[in-house]
Amino acid sequence: MIQIAASILAADVMHLSREVHLMEDAGCDMFHIDVMDGIFVPNIAHGPSLVSAMKRKTSLPLDVHLMVMRPERYINRFIDAGADFLTVHFETVADLRATLKKIREAGASAGVSVKPGTDIRVLNPFLDDIDLVLVMAVEPGFGGQEFMVDTLGKVQTIRAAGYTGFIEADGGINLDNLPALMNAGMDIAVMGTSLFEAKDKFAFVRQVHALTRAPFMDGVQVP
Ligand code: DX5
Ligand code: ZN
Repeated sequence: MIQIAASILAADVMHLSREVHLMEDAGCDMFHIDVMDGIFVPNIAHGPSLVSAMKRKTSLPLDVHLMVMRPERYINRFIDAGADFLTVHFETVADLRATLKKIREAGASAGVSVKPGTDIRVLNPFLDDIDLVLVMAVEPGFGGQEFMVDTLGKVQTIRAAGYTGFIEADGGINLDNLPALMNAGMDIAVMGTSLFEAKDKFAFVRQVHALTRAPFMDGVQVP
């Protein structure tokens, strides 16, 4: 069963409360909150105060994606604010094992992400310490970019390495590439532009569920 993480980078920030309730009612499973420092990525977005404001509005899990240098400085701030999943980038931490341990000890699930140019196998020595692998399917920094097809191979590679935790994919995910991601072994689909710009968000989420949750009988998918 695939879970949908609605990426609020694509939401109408002037009506965030309404957007959050709409996504809940439509059937999304969690919210994805992008944090950007303008250094690791060429954009700036969101901080702990937005996470705590979201926490007051929703009971769905908050999946916080830190695209910042030296993220270990902010672990406690984001978890105190209400992050349920806290993901750091492999490229930004000096001591990944210690960072993941700190996240778990502070009470959140520990995630690691890799940029498209980073070999996913760098995570192999750490798999027991990771609750969630976030595979970037675009260069981090902006929503609305095109999905990179080699993401599928990265998802397969990390599954084939024996990883049993969550695999999340992020960037350019839509109804067309979702089935292939699911077949590759993805559990959580971050959806920004395709979801928030859908004319009928309820119908869009129903389509995602139909693609990813339909019952199987003798290997035949029942419509
Ligand atoms: C990009 C962010 C993504 C982004 C995805 O750096 O990490 O979470 O919001 O947005 P879409 O679905 O529009 O590619
Ligand atoms: Zn993200």
